[in-house]
Amino acid sequence: LNLLCTLVFGVDAVKTVTVMEGDSVTLQTETELQTDDVIMWQFEDEKTPIATINSGTESFFTFDVPDGRFRDRLKLDHQTGSLTITNTTTKHAGRYQVRTKIIYRFSVTVYARLPAPVITSNTSQNPSSSYCSLVCSVVNVSHVTLSWYKGNSLLSSISTTHLNNTQLCPACSGISEVILMIE
Ligand SMILES: *[C@@H]1O[C@H](CO)[C@@H](O)[C@H](O)[C@H]1NC(C)=O
Ligand SMILES: *[C@@H]1O[C@H](CO)[C@@H](O)[C@H](O)[C@H]1NC(C)=O
Ligand SMILES: *[C@@H]1O[C@H](CO)[C@@H](O)[C@H](O)[C@H]1NC(C)=O
Ligand SMILES: *[C@@H]1O[C@H](CO)[C@@H](O)[C@H](O)[C@H]1NC(C)=O
Repeated sequence: LNLLCTLVFGVDAVKTVTVMEGDSVTLQTETELQTDDVIMWQFEDEKTPIATINSGTESFFTFDVPDGRFRDRLKLDHQTGSLTITNTTTKHAGRYQVRTKIIYRFSVTVYARLPAPVITSNTSQNPSSSYCSLVCSVVNVSHVTLSWYKGNSLLSSISTTHLNNTQLCPACSGISEVILMIE
């Protein structure tokens, strides 16, 4: 039975988690710690863990990485082993995994609080024409995806490594949201 569970849960499933910069994010193990559990949280390819739990000795530790990005930001749930990162920055985006008897993988995306994109509309002066456009411009951001939404539907998505130029959106009526995402 153990082997079967390992096979079922051990598949390479990655849970995608998103968070707005400055907010907290919790990576849920969705389990209850057993008395003999030893748990290790890892970030990206860091050799040393960022958190460890030994239920048997009731030891709960969090660790930083050399560049200090996790300093005072990690919290462990003593019941489940879930890891919370507080006051996130875009440096916390990346792959996380927790090893217990099985491995849970997470992919964390941090939405940056960017300077608000400037959106201007350009309606044709000619009343017989239905021409209209919206122009979205942002400055000084890199590695972003610009997405136009109308209601909940995605109209277009543009990925560029340097988006300080002007982008034209495909349609203007009912544009509800512009989402910029750091990758
Ligand atoms: C959150 O982190 C920023 C640096 O990224 C820091 O300036 C700020 O003081 C932190 N806020 C809290 C509430 O810890
Ligand atoms: C508005 O659209 C017209 C026609 O395409 C163009 O010539 C003009 O530069 C646009 N104005 C702005 C502010 O984008
Ligand atoms: C954009 O970056 C340049 C160079 O880093 C800086 O001089 C300029 O003030 C920035 N502009 C804005 C709007 O932040
Ligand atoms: C973006 O801005 C930088 C510096 O402000 C400039 O060197 C670069 O040419 C700009 N790129 C585009 C596509 O406008």
